[in-house]
Amino acid sequence: MDVEECIPSRRSVRAYQDKEVPEGEIRKILKAGAMAPSAKNLEPVRYIVITDKEKIKELSGKVKEKLKHLGGKYKERAETEEDIVFYGAPLLILLVGNREKWTRIDCALAAENMMLQARGMGLGSCYIGFMNKIEDERETLESLGIEEGQELYSPLIFGYPEEWPQDKEREPEVQNWIK
Ligand SMILES: Cc1cc2nc3c(=O)[nH]c(=O)nc-3n(C[C@H](O)[C@H](O)[C@H](O)COP(=O)(O)O)c2cc1C
Repeated sequence: MDVEECIPSRRSVRAYQDKEVPEGEIRKILKAGAMAPSAKNLEPVRYIVITDKEKIKELSGKVKEKLKHLGGKYKERAETEEDIVFYGAPLLILLVGNREKWTRIDCALAAENMMLQARGMGLGSCYIGFMNKIEDERETLESLGIEEGQELYSPLIFGYPEEWPQDKEREPEVQNWIK
């Protein structure tokens, strides 16, 4: 798939087949992250790969507990058995790093590279900002291997989609073009 097809067809996937992602595919996704640009070429992004279903379920449960406090539709959905956090994805990759000025941006750039790589290989993905609900839970973070002095910046899920969301047209809002 070339880049002009890959970019518009990458959409956030929120329903996954119960099918593991082979290790070789996971390594290609990680490699795409590593190839992203980084400030001062410092390459500060670290990757935590989670394929353990029980661990993913446990994390989903912890985030759901927090979502209950938001009230409204979140509370309602968090009280069901549904995995409203990771959508049944078999692979979670957390992009973490130090607290230096540019690391959050470096992680975001690596994240998009990874989601595009995944799309090119027929895998869906989604950025899971909801995981920030547990970003201060040191014990949980440590259980994942996130070290003291590191932040969780970009949590991503991957897997084989139940179905692909439709491509979507989006136009850039060019505010000014100085010729
Ligand atoms: C920083 C960030 C956080 C996000 N957090 C979530 C999330 O917690 N759950 C979710 O389902 N989607 C999440 N998304 C996905 C967005 O909702 C999605 O990218 C947006 O609706 C556009 O749709 P598209 O990705 O299909 O183009 C997040 C995206 C970004 C960039």
